[in-house]
Amino acid sequence: MTELLQIYKCGTCGNIVEVLNSGSGTLVCHGQSMKLMEEQTADFKTEKHVPVVEETEDGLHVVVGSTPHPMVNEHWIEWIQVVKDGTIMRQFLEPGQKPEADFPMKGKPDMAREYCNIHLLWKTS
Ligand SMILES: [Fe+2]
Repeated sequence: MTELLQIYKCGTCGNIVEVLNSGSGTLVCHGQSMKLMEEQTADFKTEKHVPVVEETEDGLHVVVGSTPHPMVNEHWIEWIQVVKDGTIMRQFLEPGQKPEADFPMKGKPDMAREYCNIHLLWKTS
């Protein structure tokens, strides 16, 4: 059984999928059940993976970590996502960029989350 917007990862090849419609089946890749990426959270003041959301004149500015998360080839934030009222926006990032993104979305999001290539999925508390 899957739920809307859950993230699953294949432990063999690294395929990552997001659920756009929940169903009763199990997601499988390389003959094995894909692993549900549980959203971790913590106080953003002490945890560098928690997205920090700021409302601006143009929308939302999201930074990963009150102390910015590393963005090097071995360890970086792959993407940042915001969700509000059924609208989903995601910014993919690359090593060398800043761990932040701007979204043309007004008002506090229902959810903001990010994916670190090593420490996996984190959301705002
Ligand atoms: Fe990390």
